[in-house]
Amino acid sequence: MDARDLVRSVKVIGSARGRRTVRAAWRRERVDAAGLPRSGPERARVPGLAEGAEPQPGGGVVRFARSSLRVRVAAGGAVFCGWDGATPEPSYALAGSCPEVDQRAFLEPDTEDGWRVVSERVTVTVSRHGAVAVRTPGGVVLRRELPPRWWEPAAGPVEGAPPRWTQRSVVAPDARCFGLGGRSAGPRLRSGTYRLWNTDPGGAFEPPDDPLYLTMPVQLVVADAGSHLIFHDNTWDGAVTLREGVEGEGSGHDRPGRCEVRMEGGPLRYWVIVGTPARVLHSWAQLTGAPALPPPWALGYHHARWGFGSEREVRRVVAGYLERGLPLSAVHLDIDHYDGHRVFTVDRERFPDLPRLAADLADDGVRLVSIVDPAVKAEPGDPVYDAGVAAGAFVRDGSGREVRGEVWPGESAFPDFTDPRVRAWWGEWYAERLAQGFAGVWHDMNEPVSFAAFGDPTLPLSARHALEGRGGDHREAHNVYGLAMARAGYEALRELRPEQRPFLFSRSGWAGLQRYGGTWSGDVSTGWPGLRASLALVLGLGLCGVPYSGPDVGGFTGSPSPELYLRWFQLASYLPLFRTHAAITAGRREPWEFGPEVLEHARAALHERQRLAPYFLTLAHLAHRTGAPYVRPLWWRWPRDRALRDCEDAFLLGDSLLVAPVLEPGVRQRTVRLPRGRWYDQATGQAYEGPGRIVVDAPLSRVPVLVRAGSVVPVVGERGETELEVWAPMVGRTGGGVLISETGDGWEEPTEVRFTTRMRGERVAVEREGPEDVKYAMRVRGEAVGLVTP
Ligand code: NOJ
Repeated sequence: MDARDLVRSVKVIGSARGRRTVRAAWRRERVDAAGLPRSGPERARVPGLAEGAEPQPGGGVVRFARSSLRVRVAAGGAVFCGWDGATPEPSYALAGSCPEVDQRAFLEPDTEDGWRVVSERVTVTVSRHGAVAVRTPGGVVLRRELPPRWWEPAAGPVEGAPPRWTQRSVVAPDARCFGLGGRSAGPRLRSGTYRLWNTDPGGAFEPPDDPLYLTMPVQLVVADAGSHLIFHDNTWDGAVTLREGVEGEGSGHDRPGRCEVRMEGGPLRYWVIVGTPARVLHSWAQLTGAPALPPPWALGYHHARWGFGSEREVRRVVAGYLERGLPLSAVHLDIDHYDGHRVFTVDRERFPDLPRLAADLADDGVRLVSIVDPAVKAEPGDPVYDAGVAAGAFVRDGSGREVRGEVWPGESAFPDFTDPRVRAWWGEWYAERLAQGFAGVWHDMNEPVSFAAFGDPTLPLSARHALEGRGGDHREAHNVYGLAMARAGYEALRELRPEQRPFLFSRSGWAGLQRYGGTWSGDVSTGWPGLRASLALVLGLGLCGVPYSGPDVGGFTGSPSPELYLRWFQLASYLPLFRTHAAITAGRREPWEFGPEVLEHARAALHERQRLAPYFLTLAHLAHRTGAPYVRPLWWRWPRDRALRDCEDAFLLGDSLLVAPVLEPGVRQRTVRLPRGRWYDQATGQAYEGPGRIVVDAPLSRVPVLVRAGSVVPVVGERGETELEVWAPMVGRTGGGVLISETGDGWEEPTEVRFTTRMRGERVAVEREGPEDVKYAMRVRGEAVGLVTP
C-alpha cells in the first residue's frame, strides 16, 4: 500500500461504499493471485548481428541472429517497423485494414553500414546490430533507435508471460516532444516518465498528476531538422521516459534528447511519419481514421451537471439561459437521472417524462445528452444484467467466473467490448436512450473503473477478454476498453439513427478514438493549475489525432472564484467542446451565479462563440478531411521557431486566429508570442509584426485574440447570415480562408468555398473559388491601421 492508497482507504473507511471498495480491492488481488502467470527468472535478448535481408514490396526484412525486423513503407508515407515477426495487423489503432504498401519504396542492397529503405518522404537505415535511423530525404537524422532489448522467461516461453521489452532512442538536442494522449503537465512533455495505462486518478486531478484517463503511445517530436510522429502500436501497460536534450550553444556540449519506451508485453512494432506537422497529422488520420464530424449543434455551448436531481431543476437552468438571452445548445444529464445509478434506466420520480422534456427543450433549440457508463449493476432481475448474462457479455476471470467490481450502482459486471458480439448487444441498448429523447452520448468510467480502496482501481489484470477472437487478458485489453466501447456506441447510433451524425465523447480511449468521437478533460480540479491543464489536454490530444475535446468549465470540484470561472469560460469558448460541468458536491456553474459583471462577460463569450459558428464548423470539416486539430500549438506552421515550441500559454484556432487566454489571476494585460507575419488584435484592430513578443490588453471582458493578416474568417453577421470578416493582407502577400458549410446534421456533401486575398493599391481584393450561387457580405478590417513592430 503506498501513501496515496492509504489516503484513499482512510477516506473510505466507515461508509458502506468504502467497505465495498475494500472488498473489491481484495477480490481483485485474489483473482490475480490465482490467474496471473508467475514471473520466474528472466534473461535478456538483443537482436545480435545481422545475417541478411530480403527485399519485399515497400521495404524488406532484415534477419538478425536472434530476431528480425520488417520495414515497410505504406502509401501516404508512414513507415512500419516490426520486430520479431510483428506485422501491422491486428491493430486497434488502424482504421479498417492496413494501408497498401508504397510500391516505389525499396530496400537498398547491403552497404557497409547495413541496409536502407528509401521512400519519398523518409529514409530508414538499419545497422548490422539492429539500430534504426529515421532520416529526412536529405539525410538528416530525426530519430535513432538503438537495438531493442527483450526480457523473457529464462526457461523458455511461458503461456501468458510474453517478453517485456525496452527500446531507447535519441533525438536532436533541440527536439520537443508532445502527445502521449492527455497529459496534465503538457503540452510540451518535459523530462520524466509517462505511464501508458488509462487511469482514473480518483478524485479531481491537477498538473502534474499522471497518468490520466486517456493515454496513448503517440509522440509528436518537433525539431529544427524536421518533425515526426512515432506510434508504438502496443496496448499493454508501459511507460515512456523522456529526457529533453540540451544545446551546448556552440560549446560542443550538446546533449541529445532521449526517449525510452518500455512495455510489459505485446509486440514491438511502431509507425513513423515524417513531415510538417500538418502532413504528419494528415497521414496519421489516414492511418487511424478520420475524426468523426460532430453535428453542428455540438459546436455550441453545453451545460452539464452531476446532480441536476430533477427535471424541474433542468428546466429551471435552461430557462435561466433562455430568459437572459444566453445561447445554449445542449444539456447533459449525469448518473443522477438513472434509477439507482443503473445504466439505461431513468429515475421516474425525478424525471417523470424525459421524452417530453427532450421535446420541450428541442423547441428551444436545446439537445439532451446522456451519460453512459459501462458498468452494469450485477443483480439478477435487472434487465440489462439479465440480458448481458444471457448474451455472455460480461468479462470473466481465468476460472470462468464473472468479474465483479464496484462502481456507482454498487457491485457491477463489465461488458467485454473487445468482443464484436458484445458490442452489437450493447449497441442495441442505445435505442432506449434515443427513445428517451437523447441526441448524443457521453461515455464515462470506461478506463474501466472499479473503485478500489487500494491498488489499481480497475479490473483484475488476469480478467479474460475476447480481443476480437484472439483471446487475452486485461493487461492487453485495458487500454482499448474505452476505445472499443466508443466503437460500440458509434456503430449503434449510426445504425439506429442513420440520418444523423452521432454525437459521442468518451473519457477514456486510445489511438483511433477520433473515428467515433471526442473526449473531455475528466475531473479537472478547480483552481488556476486546472485551468492551465485544460488547455494542455486539448492541445496534446489534438496532436494525437483526437481534435474534439474540452474541459469542465469552472473545474469539476468546489467553487471557482468569479474571476477563475470567467477565465475558464473565456478559454473554453475557443475550444471545440465548450461545456460547463461539475461534481454533485461542487458549487453552481451557471454564468449568472457569479455576479452581473461575470454574466455580461460570459454573455460576450457566448455570443462570440455563436458568431464564430461557421468558422468552427469549417474547422470540424477540415479536421475530418485532413486530421488537423482545430486547436493547434503556436508552432503548427512554424515548427522551426524554437520560442514557439516552448510557448504553452496560447494557441492557434485554425489558420486564422491566435487565442491568448488568461491563465493566471489578476492579469489585465499579457505578453503574447507572435509567429511570423502580421497579426491584428481583433478587439482594437492594432497590427503587429511577428515574430516577437507583444503586450496586449486582457481586460476581464475578453481574452486577447489576434487575427492573421490576409485571413477570411466566416462568421454569423448581424442578420443571422454567414458573412466574411476579411483582414487586410500584407502588401505583396496573399492570404485567404475557406468556408465549409452545410444545412443539416446528416451526411450531405457540404459546400466549400475558398478565398484568396491580396492588396490592390489601398484596397483589399478577395477572389473566390467554388459555387457561385451564394454571395456573402464582407467586412474588411485592418486596412488603415498603423503597424507596430515589436
Ligand atoms: C466521473 C466523470 O468524470 C464526471 O464528469 C461525472 O460527473 C461523474 N463521473 C459522475 O458520473
